[in-house]
Amino acid sequence: MRILLPLARLAHMPSRSVRLWALCALVSFGLPAKEPVKATHGMVGAQEPLAADVGLTVLKNGGNAVDAAVAVGFALAVTHPVAGNIGGGGFMLVRLANGTTDFLDFRECAPAKASRDMYLGPNGNPTRESIYGWKSAGVPGTVAGLELAHKKFGSQDWKSLVTPAVGLAKDGFTLTEPVAAALRSENNPLNQDPESKRIFLRDGNPYKTGEVLKQPELASTLDRIARQGAKGFYRGETAKKLTAEMAAHGGFITESDLQDYKVIERLPLTGTYHGYNVITAPPPSAGGVGLLQMMGMLTGTTYESDGPNSPKAVHFVAEAMRRFYADRSEYLGDPDFYNVPVRQLLDPAYLTWRRGTIDPERATPSELIGPGLPKHLQARVSWYESKETTHYNVVDAKGNAVAVTYTLNNSYGNGITVPGLGFLLNDEMDDFAAKPGAPNMFGMVGADANAIEPGKRPLSSMTPTIITKGSKLEMVVGAPGGSRITTGVAEVIFNVLDFGLNAQDAVDLPRFHLQWKPDVLYLQTGFPLQTEGALRAMGYDVKPTDNVARVEAIVVNNGTLEGGTESRLHGKVAGY
Ligand code: GLY
Repeated sequence: MRILLPLARLAHMPSRSVRLWALCALVSFGLPAKEPVKATHGMVGAQEPLAADVGLTVLKNGGNAVDAAVAVGFALAVTHPVAGNIGGGGFMLVRLANGTTDFLDFRECAPAKASRDMYLGPNGNPTRESIYGWKSAGVPGTVAGLELAHKKFGSQDWKSLVTPAVGLAKDGFTLTEPVAAALRSENNPLNQDPESKRIFLRDGNPYKTGEVLKQPELASTLDRIARQGAKGFYRGETAKKLTAEMAAHGGFITESDLQDYKVIERLPLTGTYHGYNVITAPPPSAGGVGLLQMMGMLTGTTYESDGPNSPKAVHFVAEAMRRFYADRSEYLGDPDFYNVPVRQLLDPAYLTWRRGTIDPERATPSELIGPGLPKHLQARVSWYESKETTHYNVVDAKGNAVAVTYTLNNSYGNGITVPGLGFLLNDEMDDFAAKPGAPNMFGMVGADANAIEPGKRPLSSMTPTIITKGSKLEMVVGAPGGSRITTGVAEVIFNVLDFGLNAQDAVDLPRFHLQWKPDVLYLQTGFPLQTEGALRAMGYDVKPTDNVARVEAIVVNNGTLEGGTESRLHGKVAGY
């Protein structure tokens, strides 16, 4: 079906043909088309329903978006153990209704004892210690990040925001099938750690759907945080127990690492696209650079003229992805340790040149595309990140908006629960390039910009993003999904701004992903065979995939908040 669409966003002027297209695509995907959740005051979208409800209660009780975000962050650490956390790190993007923006970087950092070759074995090749075991953990940032957010922007008493999580851990919560099934999964690393096995797998007698999971040790840890703030995590009993266990198991994190941990406030990365203001993640995330690069490369291509997920749209977006990932492989890392050339990467002249290398009819083989900046700016970095992370959005009655993506890296992090403390540790050290200049275990190239150094933050793909038009909030969006986060977030933004889909259709529409290397175009289940055939004919090596990120979106439509959470998953949008 050929649909002619204006460049301007259509969400406020729903086009029947676009809606029809979305319905067809969703039916072929095996999903009933759903309406977005609508609300006029406030909204929380999260990937676990109980945590979304905690946030909604905070909003209804007069808390603002940051208050709710703090409460959701702690609640997810209890109810969504696969990625919710206090033992990991992440990013919070804030945009207040008065236009003030802030970006809190509470990503984990490498411990002081870390060194460039710490994960190389005797043969000089990377071991698996960056993923499994005590050595894989970076210094956690989540508790410090949530505390700083609350100090800067919160309006409610801190304790009241942590207490719901304490209750969920102490009294337990009823396991839904997705949470129980994920815990039972043979592939998760919880099986390898005695404390995780005891708590989450009931020592080999896994929880069934409908049973209650209680986490008393986690409740005590959270209670110390509720009473003492971040000090109750980075100092005192929690810090002592964590570092004693670290030392006993050959891990690297010490009490001074915990005491020295700092949240870094950064200027959000900003740009414009089709008349909208885009506020997004700066390095050490590659996400915001990628989003703005793709937008810059698509501008003026009329890529949208045949409709969402048409061969033409997929082709142009995939070629923009290819060029971004080539740049990502070379130029991105922690800006406090490496001079990331953000200005050059987003220079309109550079993006115009990059756009000009896209053949409108044919895929460009990745071997013909390299990082595009002049040689003297080049360095090599890894782009691998794991698939498990989580994202949530909050908008309050005043129009303050918060987008949080935080992570333990892999599902359940490194799988280790700290004895006596009840929380899982991250394996974020694997987001560094273990061996600069050589492919890592996933076949990805490592590089200097993302080499391990004490205190450094590993490169991320997390892309929490807020879109405005003039001073008006339009969209809050983000996702987990490893290196697919950036492409998933970008596609959902395009679905809303360029194709006029509502928040629910925009997140449910099948997505695609291409990341330069491997030179493969991944199509999520649901693409019509005709589209797949057209893309193959253009030269793409098309392969199926079950997910391209897991996107959460809130869209403001004529003053009404409309929230979408993927029907494929078990998240919840809660509004009032
Ligand atoms: N560990 C996932 C990311 O930071 O992108």
